[in-house]
Amino acid sequence: MSTETTQTTDEPAATGVEESQATAEDAVSATTMTLEIYRGDDDVGELVEYDVPVEEGMVVLDAIHWIQANEEPELAVRWNCKSGRCGSCSVEIDGMPSLACMKRLSEYDPETPITVTPMATFPVVKDLVPDVSWNYEVNETIEPFSPAEDADFEFYQEDVERAREFRKCIECFLCQDVCHVLREHDKKESYAGPRYLVRSAGLHFHPEDTADRTEWMKDDAGVGFCNITRCCSDVCPEDIEITDNAIIPQKERVVDEYYDPLRRLRSWLSGLW
Ligand code: SF4
Ligand code: SF4
Ligand code: FES
Repeated sequence: MSTETTQTTDEPAATGVEESQATAEDAVSATTMTLEIYRGDDDVGELVEYDVPVEEGMVVLDAIHWIQANEEPELAVRWNCKSGRCGSCSVEIDGMPSLACMKRLSEYDPETPITVTPMATFPVVKDLVPDVSWNYEVNETIEPFSPAEDADFEFYQEDVERAREFRKCIECFLCQDVCHVLREHDKKESYAGPRYLVRSAGLHFHPEDTADRTEWMKDDAGVGFCNITRCCSDVCPEDIEITDNAIIPQKERVVDEYYDPLRRLRSWLSGLW
């Protein structure tokens, strides 16, 4: 779980940003791009336009920092590492869930304003900072890693690799943001979302884990709500194959356990003897 902070210009700038943060006066001689940034909270807000001088290599987070340093010290954005590792700077750039520190300004049309808005699936605290605390509540419902007492922790490399994919997660919540079950249908009461099916997959596929989370998958996580659109996999900055490798196998496990007629018949017959 990442440690996250809401930062304004009172706090240290990111490594290397100082050089790229030209002053407002320098801006006149630099290439300029326009950003439209959401300013406000969950009740009221608007897109506000800022012209930012652009230097080679700048990312969207650099542009936000330039605005903080030169025009709007109160502009709130969450970030920590500025290297795609902490998962804190998740926003929507032109409507696409993205890490602000990993999107170069050069990827965007300089003639068209870039919109930067907070993740739409969660309530807005201020400007670009959402309240993601619901995610941590879901996390609490998952039975933790449960090895047998006599587990020897010797297993095949292929088993290590299978579980390792899911442990790459940086908890950016971009997958939670894009998932229509949460975003458009607001099924937070019924569906844990892709991030937590990734976490449970990492536990299930660990060769030494012994817990049975099938009931959690079905009833608490609501894995049946996923209709395999793969939007979550598309936005994952760690390239985790969320749908194919984490969610579908867990759907299959639930089906095997609860809905396979042969299995139910076997179980019923065994009850007769
Ligand atoms: S594949 Fe499932 S979890 Fe991923 S975005 Fe689609 S519905 Fe949501
Ligand atoms: S699974 Fe990918 S998109 Fe989802 S929280 Fe983890 S790193 Fe982010
Ligand atoms: S600031 Fe850490 S991932 Fe962007």
